[in-house]
Amino acid sequence: MKQTNSTPHRKNRERARQFAQMSDNIYLPCQARVDEIIRENDQVLTFVCSFEDVLCNKDFSYVPGQFMMVSMPHLGEAPISFSSSPTEGTGFRLTVRRAGRLTSAMHELKPGDQIGVRGPCGTPFPVRELEGSNLLFVGGGIGMAPLRSVVQYALANRERYGDITVLYGARTPADLCFRKEIGLWRRQGVTCLLSVDHGDENWTEHVGLVTELLDQVQVSPASDRALVCGPGIMMRFVLQKLVTLGLEPGSIWTTLERHMKCGVGICGHCHFEDRLVCWDGPVFSMAQLPDLENL
Ligand SMILES: Cc1cc2nc3c(=O)[nH]c(=O)nc-3n(C[C@H](O)[C@H](O)[C@H](O)COP(=O)(O)OP(=O)(O)OC[C@H]3O[C@@H](n4cnc5c(N)ncnc54)[C@H](O)[C@@H]3O)c2cc1C
Ligand code: FES
Repeated sequence: MKQTNSTPHRKNRERARQFAQMSDNIYLPCQARVDEIIRENDQVLTFVCSFEDVLCNKDFSYVPGQFMMVSMPHLGEAPISFSSSPTEGTGFRLTVRRAGRLTSAMHELKPGDQIGVRGPCGTPFPVRELEGSNLLFVGGGIGMAPLRSVVQYALANRERYGDITVLYGARTPADLCFRKEIGLWRRQGVTCLLSVDHGDENWTEHVGLVTELLDQVQVSPASDRALVCGPGIMMRFVLQKLVTLGLEPGSIWTTLERHMKCGVGICGHCHFEDRLVCWDGPVFSMAQLPDLENL
C-alpha cells in the first residue's frame, strides 16, 4: 500500500477501526436501506439511508468530508460524499447527481430499496481544528453536498464556531440544491448568498460567478477559515481570490474528485501528484495543493 502520510500507522489503525464499524472485510459492502428520497432538482436526488443491520446503525459514525463507496448490483461502485452530518441522527444522507450508469440506476430507486455501501472512507474536514473560527463556505453545483455536512455539523455545535457564511452558485435557479436547508440556515443566523449564471423572472439574488459573491462579504484573514467545493475551474478561481483577499493557503480547505476503484488507498487509481485522493484526501488544505492548474 502506498503511504504518503507522516503517521501512516496511526492513520491505518484509525481507518481500520472505522471500517470495523461495518465489517471486518473492508471490501465487503454492507446493505443500507433507502428510507426517503428528496428531489433537489432534475438531476440531483438526496437519499436518506439507514443500515439494515440495527447494530451497524447504532455504531456507525463518520466526520463531514468523508465518503462512502456505493454499489448497485452489476454496476460497480462510485464514491459519494456524506451530505448529512453525524449530528443529524442515525443513518446518513447521500446527494447524488445523475452522471452515468450507477448514478442513473440510483435515480430509479424507490424508498425501501437497498444499496451496498463501504466506509466511511477518506480524510475528513478538520472540524476540531476549525473550532473558534468563522466559517466561510463556497460551493458550486453538487459541490454543496459535502459542504452541507459541515454546515449542519457546525450548527449542531454552534458554540464552537464563529460566524457562518455560505456562498453557493448554480447554473440556474432550478439547479440549486438544499433550498429547504438554506431557508433554515438563514433563520439560524447563517449568511447565505446565492448566485446563478442565468436567472429567471423570479430570481432576486445575484446573477454571475460565485467568485463575485466574495466581493459582498468581509473576509478577515485572522479569524476566517474557508471551505470550498465545486467544479475544478470554479475552485481554481475561488481559491485564487481567497488568497488575494488575504487568506493563508493553510486556512483554505477543499475536497477533490478523482476516479476511484478501491477507495482505501490500495489500487493507485486516484493518485494526484504524490498523494492518493481516497486516502490522503479527499479533503486537502490549499497549502497541500500548490499547483491549482491540476484541480
Ligand atoms: C470523493 C468523491 C466524492 C464524491 N461525492 C459525490 C457526491 O456527493 N455526489 C455525486 O453526485 N457525485 C459525487 N462524486 C462523483 C461520483 O463518484 C461520480 O459522478 C461517479 O463516478 C458517477 O458514477 P456513474 O457510474 O454514474 O458514472 P460514470 O459512468 O462513472 O461516469 C459518468 C461521467 O462522469 C465522469 N466521472 C466519473 N467519475 C468522476 C470523477 N470522480 N470526477 C470527474 N468526473 C467523473 C466520467 O468520466 C463520465 O464522463 C464524488 C467523487 C469523489 C471522488
Ligand atoms: S488508491 Fe484505489 S481508489 Fe484510491
